[in-house]
Amino acid sequence: MKPIPEEKLKQLERAAAEARKKSYAPYSHFAVGAALLGENGMVYTGCNIENASYPAGICAERTAIFKAVSEGCRRFRAIAIAGGPEGADCLTLCTPCGICRQVMREFTGPDFPVWFSDGNGGFRMMTLAQLLPESFGPDSL
Ligand code: THU
Repeated sequence: MKPIPEEKLKQLERAAAEARKKSYAPYSHFAVGAALLGENGMVYTGCNIENASYPAGICAERTAIFKAVSEGCRRFRAIAIAGGPEGADCLTLCTPCGICRQVMREFTGPDFPVWFSDGNGGFRMMTLAQLLPESFGPDSL
């Protein structure tokens, strides 16, 4: 997979932090934003959206992925995730949850770069294969 240019990556991180401002998290008070770069060059953003019936809530990553897929984009180059306590400017460590890793697995490959806020003022990258080893995916069926 082609490496993402530094400027594009910065744009993705900024878009994730911006999307985080739209988070609806009245229960956890943990606000997350995600920005997903499609192979078509488009950036799809998402935030976490909670619900009084807790399991009905959704993470920022899946909001972004489902927005993209529902708009016809199924191939992705990278995702950036920015998370931290609601109302605070500073981001904390925010790795994607297991369900989001599995949803990424559906539409991306083992080298898919997942950038997440590291809690030290920056973003850190892990590949999907590192985050979800020995995974079950479309090719398993
Ligand atoms: N959350 C995300 O949106 N993405 C993550 O990567 C971690 C967790 C959300 C789900 C829930 O609304 C809140 O953060 C606390 O778990």
